[in-house]
Amino acid sequence: MCGIVGYVGKKEVVPILIDGLRRLEYRGYDSAGIALLDKGNLTVAKSKGKVELLDNSVNRSHYSGTVGIGHTRWATHGEPSVTNAHPHTDCSKSIAIVHNGIIENYLELKEKLIKEGHKFRSKTDSEVIAHLIEKYYKGNLEKAVLSSIKKLKGSYAIAVITKDEPHKVVAVKCGSPLIVGIGKEENFVASDVPAILTHTRKVIYLHDYDVVVLNEKKVQIKNIKGKNVNRRVEKITWDINAAEKGGYSHFMLKEIEEQPDVILNIIKRRIDDKRRIFFDELKLNKNDFKSIKKITIIACGTAWHAGLIGKYLIEKHARIPVEVDLSSEYRYRKPPSIKNELVIAVSQSGETADTLAALRLARHNKLKVITVCNVIGSSMVRESDSVIYTHAGPEIGVASTKAYTAQISIFYLLAVHLAFLRGVIGRNTEHKLVKEFEELPKLITRILNNKKDIESCAEKYKQASSFLYLGRNINYPTALEGALKLKEISYIHAEGCSAGEMKHGPIALVDEKLPTVCIAPKSVTYEKMLSNIQELKARCGIVVSVATERDNIIKKHSDYVIHIPKVNEDLSCILATIPLQLLAYYMAVAKGRDVDRPRNLAKSVTVE
Ligand code: G6P
Repeated sequence: MCGIVGYVGKKEVVPILIDGLRRLEYRGYDSAGIALLDKGNLTVAKSKGKVELLDNSVNRSHYSGTVGIGHTRWATHGEPSVTNAHPHTDCSKSIAIVHNGIIENYLELKEKLIKEGHKFRSKTDSEVIAHLIEKYYKGNLEKAVLSSIKKLKGSYAIAVITKDEPHKVVAVKCGSPLIVGIGKEENFVASDVPAILTHTRKVIYLHDYDVVVLNEKKVQIKNIKGKNVNRRVEKITWDINAAEKGGYSHFMLKEIEEQPDVILNIIKRRIDDKRRIFFDELKLNKNDFKSIKKITIIACGTAWHAGLIGKYLIEKHARIPVEVDLSSEYRYRKPPSIKNELVIAVSQSGETADTLAALRLARHNKLKVITVCNVIGSSMVRESDSVIYTHAGPEIGVASTKAYTAQISIFYLLAVHLAFLRGVIGRNTEHKLVKEFEELPKLITRILNNKKDIESCAEKYKQASSFLYLGRNINYPTALEGALKLKEISYIHAEGCSAGEMKHGPIALVDEKLPTVCIAPKSVTYEKMLSNIQELKARCGIVVSVATERDNIIKKHSDYVIHIPKVNEDLSCILATIPLQLLAYYMAVAKGRDVDRPRNLAKSVTVE
């Protein structure tokens, strides 16, 4: 959940580190810090809060160096403060480390190190790493790192420098992401690609227990036994513009607006000119698909909502029973597996600790795992049997938007594809369903053109202290996602529930102050939603409906109506999501929230 970056080369390191940290801020923003090697000295600068504050506090003319490491923190052990900010140093302030992850046995190690005379300054788990390396350091940093990691339990990506070897950065990973960037007479390590993309497109995705030694000329990777290993160099094909705001006030708004293009891209990659669906990268053959008896979907957060929609789609079209589980539950509940069960892990980042652990459990139980993922080369991708990339481009805003609609799109196409492979539908139905999907970019654009209307709705209800979201059938998960978006970025309490369950509890909350967002497009459950709306009005509740264009009936019973174009029910969950994302966005902006970096959250949750 923290972001780390390291550089060794010929350029001034401070601007490179600060720029890299800014691009990793989506991973955490409780504090930031850098350490650099400056004419034989190790210099550290830290500040509480966002990278911007660190940048303001560092007088660049006072620092000069070409080797350094940086960190942006999402606090786990010890409150956000300058003392707990990384980099952490050893007793003699010769070694500096940055760490992303959690050292589970840090208390035990700390006690031992204190007995041996080490002096600790922070409350973090990470500081033990600096002291362990100090303990094992005998003039060779990589050897000291290797000895230290043998003592660590937990997850980590670590970068280290020492003033005794002023031309190198050593880094290591286990369970937390780490990449190497290869430049000309300069090399980098970072938690994610955007941190280094303005400098190089050549990237190595490190494996667990890879220890990498960087100097300006060379990148050397060793395994835990100290033997050299070769890792493939990949070329990043997307542009840094994709990870920049490009004139938008927030990444979230930019990413909401990118959704028509994301779906166009999926169409281009997954549908041929005869409107047939293909998933070329799946390593499963037709018979594998035919023999599937059950699918289990595992995910967290917004990706879990996409999984819930996946269930509706796969069961409806392909007639395969689907179970959806939160990864954090799946990993501890000892799920029985059956023969020919397929597991689908869904994750934007491919690094979420619980989903990764759930995926490992499934594979341990000899189940085949497909990961639906947005980040190329991420841990889940590497550990799955197959991957389906969403290709939504980098998502920086902490609240997931375009990755979510991309995940649903993949489930729609996969459901139809499975239905065809299993003989449930023929080419004609596939053609029809694909044709409807192809309409989406145009329809989403229509909603986006109407954002002023949604902004007015946010303005009208921004004072409400609580919101209810109701939906049925495939739009029940839409209600959950709408509520999650609102609470994530505006900090307004919001609860999503199945409209059918309203009278079993949530209705007790309804009064003249509570707005309920009712997702009620034309569908098989439309009439039922209308009844729910009337029940709300009968109790003086405020009703904001998301309804199909030209629905004049719903207007009569709602205080505010947001229209979405007419579309087949399966795809209404994508269209209805767009106004809910915008509503949350405008509500958060109206309340002056930090939309892209909401308090206490992080985009990539690499701790349990
Ligand atoms: C965090 C993010 C969410 C995301 C969830 C799962 O909570 O803030 O936006 O849905 O993690 O992340 P993943 O990368 O696995 O989709």
